Amino acid sequence: MALLRAETIVAAFRDRFRPEAKPEVYRAPGRVNLIGEHTDYNLGYVFPIALEMACYVAIAPSGSGMLRGYSKDFDAEFSIPVDSIRDAQPRRDWTDYVIGVARELVKDNIRIEGADMLIHSEVPVGSGLSSSAALEVATAVALLGSQDLKRLEIALLAQRAEIQFAGVPCGIMDQYTAVFGKEGAAIQIDCKSLEHEYVPLPPDVAIIAVNSMVKHELGASAYHQRVKECGAAVEAIQAIDADVKSLRDVSPEFFVEVQERIPAIPRQRARHVVYETQRVLDFAKAARAQDLHEMGKLFVASHRSMQYDYEISCEEIDFLVDTAIKLPGVYGSRMTGGGFGGCTVNLVAPGSVAEFGSRLGAAYQERYGKRPAFYDCRPAAGAGRVS
Ligand code: GLA
Repeated sequence: MALLRAETIVAAFRDRFRPEAKPEVYRAPGRVNLIGEHTDYNLGYVFPIALEMACYVAIAPSGSGMLRGYSKDFDAEFSIPVDSIRDAQPRRDWTDYVIGVARELVKDNIRIEGADMLIHSEVPVGSGLSSSAALEVATAVALLGSQDLKRLEIALLAQRAEIQFAGVPCGIMDQYTAVFGKEGAAIQIDCKSLEHEYVPLPPDVAIIAVNSMVKHELGASAYHQRVKECGAAVEAIQAIDADVKSLRDVSPEFFVEVQERIPAIPRQRARHVVYETQRVLDFAKAARAQDLHEMGKLFVASHRSMQYDYEISCEEIDFLVDTAIKLPGVYGSRMTGGGFGGCTVNLVAPGSVAEFGSRLGAAYQERYGKRPAFYDCRPAAGAGRVS
């Protein structure tokens, strides 16, 4: 399938730039996080899968001293002299993810030559499926070409690009998953040690992402705010135990002991993070035991915690979750990603997927006047060259 897509991308590249060009094609996947939300920047655990839906970059040297990128999806182009990448300034649009990554590579003394890039992504923007990390990591592997860089370094430099250039104080989950994704398995990432473990999922379950088709504006500022509130919780706990460096260092038992000393809002945020990290470990255990009922329960507990303690859900998403969990064959449902819209992720018995789609789709359409999109998510491989 990827090869077929690669051919289409090559044809589009020739169309746009030069008919005789022989570009290389690279891909990096989107991701759906199964559990462990907003735990990554608190150095806890996350449990995502990489998706088949991916961002593709076709690249060929141009010999011009310019780095040029054309997005097929936005029908927009940028071009920047290679010499001035180091001093580039953000433009607050899609080019930030590309130029931000190029800039990180240059800062790491990696050689970038004049090149043309054609970019096409299948990961829907604003869906909580990490279209930005897919674009960053696809750009990184395309610009690196055959130059060697450790895979973890690629994830970290893509994350730096997002924080420093695109201005989002994100954790490592999305870029890490785009790099380390694996067919047939979820990745349990320890965001403190930056190590991971692949965990096979039970065979008899479908993972369905449901796109609410809404993305509330509040999201970006609330993300910054949550990062700060977690920092405030850590500060309050440090007054009791100076060894606590992040919420990862706070066990559920210790949290119960110290919670009264944390101001109300940071306490609520910390409660989500501390128990969500524990839920990742419990979920991995349940997945290994193929206990779908337990996995489903943890999904719903995670959602309620995001809804009431972390306060990052929204009406449309709660409607999707509350409707889904009443449908036959649904083990669990929760919001996935940064919040305030985007997708839910659902564990559904394979025989019930069709009914799940038609009933949930109809209910949502009736309530909100728009049709949600459904994605059948199968764990796919991480970034690499496809041609
Ligand atoms: C966004 C960020 C991630 C992570 C999630 C929430 O996707 O990019 O680093 O914090 O939100 O789990």
